[in-house]
Amino acid sequence: MTAVAIIGGSGFTKLKMLEVIRREVVHTPYGEPSAPLTHGLLDGKEVTFLPRHGSGHIIPPHKVNYRANLWALKHAGIEHVIGVAAVGGIRKDMAPGLIAVPDQIIDYTYGRQHTLFEDDLQKVTHIDFTNPYSDKLRQALLNAAKMSGVNAIDGGTYGATQGPRLETAMEVTRLQRDGCDLVGMTGMPEASLAREFEMEYASCSVIANWAAGINDGPITMKEIEASLVDGLEKVRKLLVSLTKIID
Ligand code: HPA
Repeated sequence: MTAVAIIGGSGFTKLKMLEVIRREVVHTPYGEPSAPLTHGLLDGKEVTFLPRHGSGHIIPPHKVNYRANLWALKHAGIEHVIGVAAVGGIRKDMAPGLIAVPDQIIDYTYGRQHTLFEDDLQKVTHIDFTNPYSDKLRQALLNAAKMSGVNAIDGGTYGATQGPRLETAMEVTRLQRDGCDLVGMTGMPEASLAREFEMEYASCSVIANWAAGINDGPITMKEIEASLVDGLEKVRKLLVSLTKIID
């Protein structure tokens, strides 16, 4: 396994332990990526980092240029992408502060530039998306979690919502009925575009809060930020172990 990129989500605009080699500004046919690519070494292994919401965390989920981000990574030679993302927990065991590696997606987003296959086509293309995440990369993440003593939940369905607002309690009830275990705003079209670009992609979901209505009371940014500090510390440990698995 070679050439890995980490797309950082909320609270994860920098990969602290990355020994930076160079930053690369990339212009793509789809416009500008969220930030320059940061190429560096993580525990001696080459890793590229891209903050999904921009270096200053200013791009909301529905405005992220997912196509440009993945184009930039593809053209930097990246074959494996880990999307780190904050999510809300729906299933009972998906508690704030924990990490999950989902295996399915339901897409509720709309109005996003979500495909490469729409203009100047020689033929209509339908990618297979039965299993939306790379199993190889999911297993690598789960093994890395074990190696680093981090408890990561194996599997679950990620419900991708539009945002930037959080959901209503009844929307979460519907997600639950649909079979969603987690809810986040950035999982799509990132995962399907990675598949269109023929890159291996997996999500490292950091549970930041109970989804709306699962617990009493409103969801506060303070609660989300506190859980993210804990969760992201685990992600950092896990990513260092991941570099040991990747050869
Ligand atoms: N819903 C959607 N996205 C999120 C949440 C949530 O509860 N928490 C963090 N990202």
